[in-house]
Amino acid sequence: MAIDIGIVGAGGMASYHCKGFAQAGAKVLCVADSNEQKASSFAKEHGIEHTASSLTEMLQRFPSLGAVSIVTPNKFHAPLAIEALQGGKHVYCEKPPARNAVELQAMLDAAQLSGKTLMFGFNNRARPEAQAMVTYLQQGVVGRINSAQATWVRRAGIPGFGGWFTDKELSGGGPVIDLLHMIDLALYFMGFPKPKCVLASTFNDFRDNPLFKGPWGIADGTMAMDVETSAHAMVTFEDGQCLMIRNSWAEMNEREVVSVVFQGSRAGGKVQRLFARDGYDETSIDTCSLFTEEYGKQVNRQVITEKDETMGRVANASNFVQSVLGNEEPLNTPEQALTLMRITDAIYESARTNSAVVL
Ligand SMILES: NC(=O)c1ccc[n+]([C@@H]2O[C@H](COP(=O)([O-])OP(=O)(O)OC[C@H]3O[C@@H](n4cnc5c(N)ncnc54)[C@H](O)[C@@H]3O)[C@@H](O)[C@H]2O)c1
Repeated sequence: MAIDIGIVGAGGMASYHCKGFAQAGAKVLCVADSNEQKASSFAKEHGIEHTASSLTEMLQRFPSLGAVSIVTPNKFHAPLAIEALQGGKHVYCEKPPARNAVELQAMLDAAQLSGKTLMFGFNNRARPEAQAMVTYLQQGVVGRINSAQATWVRRAGIPGFGGWFTDKELSGGGPVIDLLHMIDLALYFMGFPKPKCVLASTFNDFRDNPLFKGPWGIADGTMAMDVETSAHAMVTFEDGQCLMIRNSWAEMNEREVVSVVFQGSRAGGKVQRLFARDGYDETSIDTCSLFTEEYGKQVNRQVITEKDETMGRVANASNFVQSVLGNEEPLNTPEQALTLMRITDAIYESARTNSAVVL
């Protein structure tokens, strides 16, 4: 069975969606963007037949679409996803799922009413290193994970000053939700335990210092720069586990580190990417490691996996199509996304009130 997909938002991330959908045998029939110029050049570059200026227009003109992917600034995720679900389409939506858990709950309600699939761009779960680790977790090699550390730290990675990423109204927040991938991956490895309490601080350091701007990202613009630049948090869970979080666009660190480290009752583990200063290059390293004790010796195991520069973005989009077709289990669920967004909401609330937030 084949499925036609419409993409909304012809920006940086949409190319990965195209590749993933094609890998799963789906066709992108139309791309919609409020900037019609961007829609046209994206369509030309990717061989997409049709363009539209909005989701509404796309749904009217192409009722045969089976699914919609949403790749816009975060503010529009909830309204667009709800419109597509109410129009009877499956939805693949980029991360963060929404700006907060209230918006996400409305998306979940729409998905439940429509009976359609709702999945998110938690692409790091689809990385070869993450999937290799899942095998060890499922085989009982790791045991129970009591504690984990989720880290995404950039040294100088503010994505422009005054573009939509730094405007709280449009983005919902800074690195807490922009770099939420490792929080998600840690929860995935831990089996999504129920969060109990969150204690967090956020900081605005370097918010007006161009030296801390990323060498990529969107250009400086006229929008606000009113989001945090770093966050540190601890989450405890009902069954006693804990998770430390360090998410930063700008912190004086040796290099960009993206990792989940955990301590299991039988083995410790780490899934990590070390980025170069300018993003991904030949010095970038992806690893999947296990730390065990065998026959009275301390043993470090390095799991060899295939390279995936896209950090699972293509594989995750492919998994969406295969899930809709019933060929694969979905790599993420809306309920897991809601747990994650309740945590990110609580990080902001704890930082704002300078006190612990009980969930
Ligand atoms: N999974 C990842 O690794 C990853 C990485 C970067 C960004 N993202 C996410 O992807 C999404 C898009 O990010 P990006 O970097 O591609 O952004 P971008 O700014 O490059 O592109 C966004 C596009 O959406 C269009 N747009 C805005 N509002 C619209 C609307 N209402 N209807 C139709 N089009 C609209 C804009 O004109 C623009 O072309 C964001 O949610 C972001 O958080 C995910």
